[in-house]
Amino acid sequence: MKSQNANGSKVVRVGLLGLGNVGAGVAEILSTHGEMIEARAGVPIRIVKALVRNKRRKRQGAAGDVTLTTKASDIVGASDIDVVVELMGGIEPALSYVTDALAAGQTVVTANKAIVAAHGKTIFQAARKNKRDVHFEAAVAGGIPIIRTLREALASDRVTELTGILNGTTNYIVEAMASGQSYESALAVAQELGYAEADPTLDVNGADAADKLAILIGLAFGASVTRNKFGCVGITELTGEMMMDAAELGFAIKLLARARRVVTGGVETIQAGVFPYLVPLGHALSAVPDAQNAIYVRSDSLGTTLYQGPGAGGLPTGSAVVADLIEAARNVAAGTRGRSTVQPTRAGPKLAKSGDTVCPWYLRLTVAEKPGVLAAITTLLADESISLATVSQMEPSGDDNEVGIVMTTHPTSTGAMERALKKMHRLKVVRGEVQVLRVYAE
Ligand SMILES: NC(=O)c1ccc[n+]([C@@H]2O[C@H](COP(=O)([O-])OP(=O)(O)OC[C@H]3O[C@@H](n4cnc5c(N)ncnc54)[C@H](OP(=O)(O)O)[C@@H]3O)[C@@H](O)[C@H]2O)c1
Repeated sequence: MKSQNANGSKVVRVGLLGLGNVGAGVAEILSTHGEMIEARAGVPIRIVKALVRNKRRKRQGAAGDVTLTTKASDIVGASDIDVVVELMGGIEPALSYVTDALAAGQTVVTANKAIVAAHGKTIFQAARKNKRDVHFEAAVAGGIPIIRTLREALASDRVTELTGILNGTTNYIVEAMASGQSYESALAVAQELGYAEADPTLDVNGADAADKLAILIGLAFGASVTRNKFGCVGITELTGEMMMDAAELGFAIKLLARARRVVTGGVETIQAGVFPYLVPLGHALSAVPDAQNAIYVRSDSLGTTLYQGPGAGGLPTGSAVVADLIEAARNVAAGTRGRSTVQPTRAGPKLAKSGDTVCPWYLRLTVAEKPGVLAAITTLLADESISLATVSQMEPSGDDNEVGIVMTTHPTSTGAMERALKKMHRLKVVRGEVQVLRVYAE
């Protein structure tokens, strides 16, 4: 006979808050691989109930066998539920359900990056106070086990760089733009394929990737940050011209969520942000296809490692949730706590000021075609100690009196580049907006 768990039951009893894409994936995996999972967990894991908005909606596959409820109290704080798995999304009521479940002595698994990124402190405090665990592997990069990797596998090492493609929708759109599609049509196809939400704002403006980066910065660098503390620019301003220039110069454009440890004068800071970058074609991140995610990590002892795969989808994300569930079940059955409530956002190094972050840059200007223009621009850049790596003149775009200039610079601070751009826009010979992107360099 199996030993009883701490709550006196022979199974670990799970309540799902949400039975949508990910919830259905979790139900499917537990149903298909139940025996294997029981052997690994050491105890059967059973979904007792799922909270949904609409009980009448027909659910496919294993989700169709799950008992539904519309009352959160059937799960949160219920005496017949050991582990609450939050898969509803959004901030409220998800956050209250999570903290209430912890207060009631239940273990929590969540896939919700928004609550972990913005309210991690509250959630981990509630877990510590109530001596419970919170698992959140699926909150970043879907099925890719990056949380466990940073927390456990790399616990012995010091991470110096973490650069990720953390939003599959934008990766899909940018790749489609590189093959000649307009932003609008690439977005429409991403929506048709189910990659992009009906309202894709948080994907395309970079906020979703920034939430995930904030979580990873806590784990990798021990710095306590939220997404509004570092720069964030999405993909909405990317143009076909930029895509063509990038290809000609030997780069692919990618939306990167990037954090690097920098030590200046003995002071350690983290330079972080989410921006579209020109990534050299030889770099692993330049080749991440479709809606995949990838995280490139550099650490002192291990060197560079790459974690790549599906960053979304019911089964891939469900696999990360079930892995958390197995860890939770082992601890519930043993009546112990895991090590998973190590607070990911303990006080650590500060973020560098955005003006101090350094990288090479790409600039595209349309200028009047007359002598001395290039000299005026290079002088202006030199005044800010910005040196050029490459300069090329492009074909005039229709107007014979204008010409396109594409430049890349050596590493330069964001502050110096912003000052130079301001002055450049005041030059009469510069027509329209200067297009600017960061260039990835290690
Ligand atoms: N989808 C992915 O690939 C993916 C990847 C990584 C992380 N995540 C995260 O996983 C979570 C779930 O995503 P999802 O794609 O599975 O979402 P989804 O398909 O929209 O499902 C949400 C589920 O929650 C239920 N729900 C939402 N609000 C509710 C409320 N106020 N009261 C009761 N039930 C409520 C819905 O009920 P009804 O079924 O009745 O509508 C539905 O079952 C989110 O935090 C998301 O960010 C998703």
